[in-house]
Amino acid sequence: CQLLPSPCRWGILFSHPRDFTPVCTTELGRAAKLAPEFSKRNVKMIALSIDSVQDHLSWCKDINAYNGEQPAEKLPFPIIADKNRELAVKLGMLDPDELDKDGMPLTARVVFVFGPDKKLKLSILYPATTGRNFDEILRVVDSLQLTAYKKVATPVDWKPGDSVMVVPTLPDEEAKKLFPKGIFTKELPSGKKYLRYTPQPE
Ligand code: BEZ
Repeated sequence: CQLLPSPCRWGILFSHPRDFTPVCTTELGRAAKLAPEFSKRNVKMIALSIDSVQDHLSWCKDINAYNGEQPAEKLPFPIIADKNRELAVKLGMLDPDELDKDGMPLTARVVFVFGPDKKLKLSILYPATTGRNFDEILRVVDSLQLTAYKKVATPVDWKPGDSVMVVPTLPDEEAKKLFPKGIFTKELPSGKKYLRYTPQPE
C-alpha cells in the first residue's frame, strides 16, 4: 500500500483540547516531527481543536519554536478550526469533565484512524491531562495496515518485525500455503491449537 497513490491513502484525525496549552504543544510538536513517518505509511494527518484559524496560525509559531525550529505559521498538517464545536459535537469528541473559563466543554484527545475505504479503523480517547504516545499511534497504524492486507493479527506488545498470529478463522492447510516462512503452534493445556505464530509476512 505504501507505494500506491491516493486510492490507498489512510487518514488520521486527532483532536486536542485547546491551542496555547502545554500538553497540546508537546503533542503537536511531536506529531510534526513524525509527519514523514506518517507520510511513509500513506497516512494523511489532520488535527482539530475548538479555536480559530488566527489562533492556530499564531500557535503554530510556538509549536515550531518548541521543536527548535523557525517560528513559522505552518505545520506539516492542517488543524481544523472547529470554533463553534460543530464537528466536535458530531464526532463525540467533547470531554464533559474538562471545561473552559466559560464552563464550555473542551475537546478530549481523540484519535481516529480511517482506512482507504474511508471507514473508521481505530478510535482511542485520552483525557486532556494525559498526552498521547505518538510512537504507539505509529505502531498501531503499522498493525492496522499489516492486518488489513494479510490474514494475521498482532499479539500483545507487537512491534514491526516481530512474529504475528495467524487469524483463528484460517484453516491450517490454507495457512501453510499463505505463510511459506512456516507456522509455529504453541502447545496448550486445552489441547486446542489456536496459538499459531508466523514471521511477519512481507
Ligand atoms: C494541556 O494541553 O496542557 C491541557 C489542556 C487542557 C487541560 C489540561 C491540560
